[in-house]
Amino acid sequence: MPALILWGIFLFTIALVFYSISVWAGWLSKRLKLWHIYVFLIGLFTDYLATALTYVAIGGIVFTWHAILGFISIALMTIHVVWSIITYLNKSEQAITNFHRISVIVWGIWMVSYLSGFGSGIEKVIQ
Ligand code: HEM
Repeated sequence: MPALILWGIFLFTIALVFYSISVWAGWLSKRLKLWHIYVFLIGLFTDYLATALTYVAIGGIVFTWHAILGFISIALMTIHVVWSIITYLNKSEQAITNFHRISVIVWGIWMVSYLSGFGSGIEKVIQ
């Protein structure tokens, strides 16, 4: 089991923590705040780093269900963060107070991808 994959899993879990804090803080306050975006960006950066490590560890791109879901969820997360920045800068009160609804949906899809990593990858992790 390459150490790099373990680092990848560790970083995916750090991404999970930052992404969840950002999304659920938005849900609880029912309002998009600037610090949610900063925490979100840390989560996104960590997610990219983890994916890059996984890519290096397995030596290329593979098309398992988990990998496909992983690429989709990173793309969605990237769109989600850009959307949050646009929403924040537009200063539309309605969009700022509605943003948390879409956030939990995208977060849910991302969670499926995270959990699928254990289904797809755990046997490689314990080999
Ligand atoms: C949302 C979180 C995650 C994302 C976005 C993600 C993303 C990806 C991507 C894009 C790949 C393909 C890399 C390539 O083809 O070069 C991949 C592969 C892999 N990931 Fe994840 N991953 C996540 C969580 C996890 C977790 C939690 C684990 C392990 C517990 C894991 C284990 C693996 C393994 C072993 C592979 C190699 C291919 C496979 O067996 O499916 N990943 N991941």
